[in-house]
Amino acid sequence: MSEKAIGVFDSGLGGLTAVKELIKVLPQENIIYFGDTARVPYGTRSNDTIRHYAMEDAGFLLSKGVKLIIAACGTVSSVATELYECLPVPFTGVVLPTATAAVKATRNGKIGIIGTSATVKSGSYKKEILRQNDRITVFQQDCPLFVPLVENGFISEDDEIVRLVVERYLRDMKAEGIDTLILGCTHFPIIAGAISNYLGKNVRLINSGSETALYAANILGSKGLLNTSNHIGSCSYYVSDTVESFCKTAGIFLGQDIDGSVEQYQISKRNKGITE
Ligand code: DGL
Repeated sequence: MSEKAIGVFDSGLGGLTAVKELIKVLPQENIIYFGDTARVPYGTRSNDTIRHYAMEDAGFLLSKGVKLIIAACGTVSSVATELYECLPVPFTGVVLPTATAAVKATRNGKIGIIGTSATVKSGSYKKEILRQNDRITVFQQDCPLFVPLVENGFISEDDEIVRLVVERYLRDMKAEGIDTLILGCTHFPIIAGAISNYLGKNVRLINSGSETALYAANILGSKGLLNTSNHIGSCSYYVSDTVESFCKTAGIFLGQDIDGSVEQYQISKRNKGITE
């Protein structure tokens, strides 16, 4: 069982920011990644559509025999919460681990949350933070333009357009004096430099990918599912759109070239999702 892979899925390429962290925390684990590149973005879609897609994505990973499923996507984690109940293997999204880290990190009790429109509308991070500590004040902002900026390579902290968009979205939170900011979307760690430059170094940025990787390690440890071999794990990638388009941009998110097999899996045509 422990040699089975960890399954990670996301609406597209962004979840590779979580894979990057998983490789650091659990280098011996095998990873199977599914990126729904043919149907990205999820963050602007209805809750019903996001849930439907998430079930299909998780169903695909189950068909690969994974031992744990991680929804690296902030949007899926916020909206498709039924995944916690309906999967036959352990599951985690990014909301609980990331909110927990933010609650621990804040000193002045003012936490900012940024994510896609669907994530912010769901209030998922806010609810979890307040469940843990109801004296914390939470400021939320959806940042839909960050996703296309990153996907089109506008990621430099010196880029004028990036700086302008960061300022436009974050100026109210900055004025409120937050000391902690949740990067509640897969794409946002890529422009963490620009965000941090604007907010100042006293504002702690919480990366959902790295917090979730640590949390996943705890789940596996507590269930006796850690891969204890001495070998470096392998990664296999599946995408619903073309392999070429994935390989072109994947490095930005993974922080290194793709090392592992990449295959196309046309999920909408072939996958029936989880059947009840
Ligand atoms: N992966 C999504 C998230 O973390 C961002 C891209 C999208 O909208 O699908 O919320």
